[in-house]
Amino acid sequence: MCGIIGVLGKTDVVPSLIGGLKRLEYRGYDSAGIAVQTGGLMDRRRAEGKLVNLEKVVTDDPLTGLTGIGHTRWATHGVPNETNAHPHMTPLVALVHNGIIENYRELAAELEPRGYSFSSETDTEIAAWVITSFLEDGKTPEEAIALSLKKFQGAFSLAVIFKGEDDLMIGAKRGAPLAIGWGDGEMFFGSDAMALAPLTSRISYLEEDDWAVLRREGATIYDGNGAQVDREIKLTKLSGAMIGKGNHRHFMMKEIVEQPAVIGETLNGFFNPKSRTITLPDLPFSWTDLPKVTIVACGTSYYAAMVAKYWFERLAHLPVEVDIASEFRYRSMPLPEGGLAMFISQSGETADTLAALRYARQQGQHIASIINVEESSMGRESDFVFHTKAGPEIGVASTKAFTCQLVTLACIAIDAGVKRGTLSAEEEAHLSSALSEVPARAAEILDHDGAIRELAKKIFEARDILYIGRGPGYPIALEGALKLKELSYIHAEGYAAGELKHGPIALIDETVPVIVVAPTDHFFEKTASNMQEVMARNAQVIFLSDAEGMKQLGEHALGSIEIPTVDPFVTPILYAIPVQILAYHVAVLKGTDVDQPRNLAKSVTVE
Ligand code: AGP
Repeated sequence: MCGIIGVLGKTDVVPSLIGGLKRLEYRGYDSAGIAVQTGGLMDRRRAEGKLVNLEKVVTDDPLTGLTGIGHTRWATHGVPNETNAHPHMTPLVALVHNGIIENYRELAAELEPRGYSFSSETDTEIAAWVITSFLEDGKTPEEAIALSLKKFQGAFSLAVIFKGEDDLMIGAKRGAPLAIGWGDGEMFFGSDAMALAPLTSRISYLEEDDWAVLRREGATIYDGNGAQVDREIKLTKLSGAMIGKGNHRHFMMKEIVEQPAVIGETLNGFFNPKSRTITLPDLPFSWTDLPKVTIVACGTSYYAAMVAKYWFERLAHLPVEVDIASEFRYRSMPLPEGGLAMFISQSGETADTLAALRYARQQGQHIASIINVEESSMGRESDFVFHTKAGPEIGVASTKAFTCQLVTLACIAIDAGVKRGTLSAEEEAHLSSALSEVPARAAEILDHDGAIRELAKKIFEARDILYIGRGPGYPIALEGALKLKELSYIHAEGYAAGELKHGPIALIDETVPVIVVAPTDHFFEKTASNMQEVMARNAQVIFLSDAEGMKQLGEHALGSIEIPTVDPFVTPILYAIPVQILAYHVAVLKGTDVDQPRNLAKSVTVE
């Protein structure tokens, strides 16, 4: 949830540290700080809140150095203020950290006899003092880190610089990502390749329990047993330009409008327009042998899993169980030998989903992941990876990654049906052609932006908002509610439309907008009845449907958004877009921070 950067530079590192933190701010933005080392002296600047506050502090009170580390924080221990902001320093080290060191209280108690005074409430500061204690015992920096890592429990990544060591930086990875950037006479640490994109394209990813000693001529990497290891140097495809907002006010809107293109890009990896077939790469399992598919994810990615359940069951007649990762990992669910476990994640670093993946691996499952960040922990720990081609997604609220997840899952479900003989060639051609229409239909929906902005004006002052849908429209209702609540802080809930009369309808009165997700599929009549039930209780309905639906019910609603008429198979992908746009405009009207909503981070790498 935090972002780390470290630079061993040839020139002043402060601009690179600040620039790197700008590209990491999506990971957490409660506070930020940098520390530098030059001429044997260490110096630090920190600030509460957004990075812009740190930039002001650095402008008002400059510092320079050739060796430095930086951090942008999502608070786990200690309130988000300057005192708790990283880097944490002792007289001998400065340290930045992402994750949780769970035994920090015991470690602090062990340090008490040394008379250290702790100025913050953080586990990170304790880690800095543990390292310092070994240095004071005469250990070298490398020895101090190796000994300290043996004492730390929990999931973390960290980077450390040492007083008086101008050509040294040490980092470690356990449960949270850390990359090494290889420069020309310069070396870097970063939480991900995006942080390092303008500095270098040569990236190595540390593996579990690795730690690395960086000097300007290169890196020495050790595994958890202290053996020296090599980690492949990959060329990242990211560039600094990929991470700009273009001419959009927010990353989120840029990423919403990129959807026709990136959906098409993702589809191109599977769909053959000539034969109208779906082709997946060879998989390390056979669809015909699978007893069960288990799909696990968090948040928006979990809603993609819910949609996929409908598709796999209907197209491939496969038994599918879906669960949120934070529950799955502790359920001890019995999984059949030879089953398939699929993990969906934009970041590929979500701690609960990663832990669930490791549980499934222990249970003898085939492991496949659907991820957007190519170089991520989940990717490295999967038997097979489907990479969504959404490109970097910076807005904390996931949009294009979600629709690309759905397109990928749709292709996988078709492939499973064909291979299991439950889908004919004609059906494959029909469904894959429907998928091939999605980019163009998505572009048509983007043209409704103005109308959706007008609808947002009608609901942005509501205290509670409900979203309802049926079948694969139900996860889209849940997704719409999540988008709204995480962006605008309005209480919003998604319900299966058929569930309303089992309690939620008690919430309905004239102050409660209800967003109805209702393509004219075989659920339509039932959903239409539910819509009339809530309208009979004066709900303000916003109706999402196609031309036929509009003809039947459009004029009864407070407002409506007409979605192009498409095959019911692809409606979940398309109906996700208007609920994204609606949430965006409500948030803009509320004046919240669209790209970095309060209390959130883009990648939840702590449990
Ligand atoms: C979605 O808008 C949220 N930011 C959040 O629910 C997110 O989907 C969830 O944290 C999972 O992230 P992941 O896809 O990177 O695993």
